[in-house]
Amino acid sequence: MENWLYDESRHCGVDYSEAQQAESYDERHGKFRDYEREFKEMMNFLGLRDTKDKMIVDLGCGTGAISILAAGFFKAVCAVDVSKAMIEEAKRKLDGNVRNLRFVNAGFLSYKHEGEPADLVVTKAAFHHLPDFWKQIGLMRINKMLKMEGILYIHDVVFQFDPQEYIDRIDSWIAGFERIAGKEFRKEVETHIREEHSTFGWIMNGMLQKAGFAVDKCKSDDGFVTEYACRKVKGFGGMRLAEPD
Ligand SMILES: C[S@@+](CC[C@H](N)C(=O)[O-])C[C@H]1O[C@@H](n2cnc3c(N)ncnc32)[C@H](O)[C@@H]1O
Repeated sequence: MENWLYDESRHCGVDYSEAQQAESYDERHGKFRDYEREFKEMMNFLGLRDTKDKMIVDLGCGTGAISILAAGFFKAVCAVDVSKAMIEEAKRKLDGNVRNLRFVNAGFLSYKHEGEPADLVVTKAAFHHLPDFWKQIGLMRINKMLKMEGILYIHDVVFQFDPQEYIDRIDSWIAGFERIAGKEFRKEVETHIREEHSTFGWIMNGMLQKAGFAVDKCKSDDGFVTEYACRKVKGFGGMRLAEPD
């Protein structure tokens, strides 16, 4: 392995490799999230209906917010996360063995996609764990996992506001979280801004384009949480990508 490769097993900000983080994750997120509603909204946003013959990869699957529901709609689901603890928590929620759902302990920069190319790659609240240079590499790796015209769905915090407004926008966004999810979650959102790697919308758009994607849809209601529906329009043939051994 090249000595300069980013070590994605070392978590920035919130450390999801800790068992306690994983065990309390659904309870903390349940204060402001409804996984079933989110899944339906994602399917509608992407205009997906008949998915019974489609293969989906969920990068940064966590406790399975998307993957577990997706198993009921897709032919095959590959749920990928760098945290063993989060994957264990996801598995604990399953009713027995779900035959079309496979978990892989890897990440954006290390997951090796095998078999037929994916129809859909999704990533929710996870991509901001990579700094921008490595986001670009991650996007090029996602491009290689997908069929031509395959779909990439990103749901994450991406700053869509004018940078000159950053103090007021961030203060009021954090205060909003505290109202809904309490003081403890406020600390988590502060950690996100301080230590994790959310980026600006125009940077994300440029990176997507450079990685061979057309952005078909981009939506953000609050200037922070943003959904992207992207389509692979260009492949990179024999492009070399550095990978851990
Ligand atoms: C906020 S959680 C989101 C989990 C899930 N997608 C959801 O919507 O609830 C972020 C997840 O990203 C994972 N993660 C962090 N860095 C990663 C990387 N480089 N590759 C893949 N997953 C990563 C963490 O382990 C954690 O499970």
